[in-house]
Amino acid sequence: MLPKFSSRAFLAPMAGVSDPALRLQCKKMGAGLVVTEFTSIHSIIAKEQQLKENKKTIQEFLEYSEKERPLSVQLFGSDLLALEKAAKIVEPFFDIIDYNMGCPSPHITQQMAGGALLQEVNLTKQIFSTLVNAVKKPVTLKIRSGVTNASRYLFKEIAQIAENEGIQMITLHPRTVTQGYSGNADWKMIKELKEISNIPIVGNGDITTPEDAKTMMDQTGCDYVMIGRGAMGNPFLFKQINDYLKTGTYTQYSLNDKLDSFFEYLCLTSDYHIKFSNIKSQAMRFTKGMPGGAKLRPKISSSKNIEELKKTMNDAYILFS
Ligand SMILES: Cc1cc2nc3c(=O)[nH]c(=O)nc-3n(C[C@H](O)[C@H](O)[C@H](O)COP(=O)(O)O)c2cc1C
Repeated sequence: MLPKFSSRAFLAPMAGVSDPALRLQCKKMGAGLVVTEFTSIHSIIAKEQQLKENKKTIQEFLEYSEKERPLSVQLFGSDLLALEKAAKIVEPFFDIIDYNMGCPSPHITQQMAGGALLQEVNLTKQIFSTLVNAVKKPVTLKIRSGVTNASRYLFKEIAQIAENEGIQMITLHPRTVTQGYSGNADWKMIKELKEISNIPIVGNGDITTPEDAKTMMDQTGCDYVMIGRGAMGNPFLFKQINDYLKTGTYTQYSLNDKLDSFFEYLCLTSDYHIKFSNIKSQAMRFTKGMPGGAKLRPKISSSKNIEELKKTMNDAYILFS
């Protein structure tokens, strides 16, 4: 059974972005569910072997905190034996196992994973049954609508198969694989999916404000919404959405609040092994939309260590006051 979610707004899995520090911030700000960055089933198996030799568990590789719960782990890869093995490795540590069938990146689709699987009906059926039978925890699915414009309705067939095989929730990002991030997410497709489904549907794509979240819910009837780019450097969005859905209003956050939030993020990163280059990218995102942010970003980019980055971000308080 799916866990209870405290909010209808979820944080999307984002490789290089939804690290444990950002996830924890979004959770504290009211995200109903957070999902790890997608992880290869083969790397999980290889890492677990190494870690076991040192009497350590997969938690050293897939870092998280108990405060993030309910927590979903996202897997990719289509080798059925490896999938079963990886799912069993992660199961004790996570509340939900999510399967990625949306990634458009060629280095993923070329290995018959991510979005490429949408056109492999037989294989996807096997993937779903393998996962559902391998673990007792709920298995969920994240998909794009199709591969090309001509196959943009593939999601309907895949969703029906998924539901029949015991997948418990589906997130739809209604763009095709070839579309990448161009054009708009076609929210009508979320409505169409909701109409043919008997399991919870999560709508995803192009939500950047509380109003967007409510509009998607109203227009599509989706059970939950998932937010990716809109939450980058902006964990406040979850509180704003929750407040807006409850009261019709929400608080605006100041530049100082955003800088404070970055320093909170930075402090949280010290508990995990997060690459410095990723931390710098997060700093860039926290300055998005700040007047003067464009001047700040080259300095962020050229910082060589955490101390330099801290100084640059500290100077921003004065620069923008
Ligand atoms: C930098 C980045 C990394 C992403 N990584 C993943 C991922 O690991 N797994 C996944 O299912 N989707 C991934 N996505 C897609 C998002 O989860 C989401 O479906 C997409 O960005 C659309 O939502 P949005 O308009 O709210 O950003 C990624 C997106 C971005 C921008």
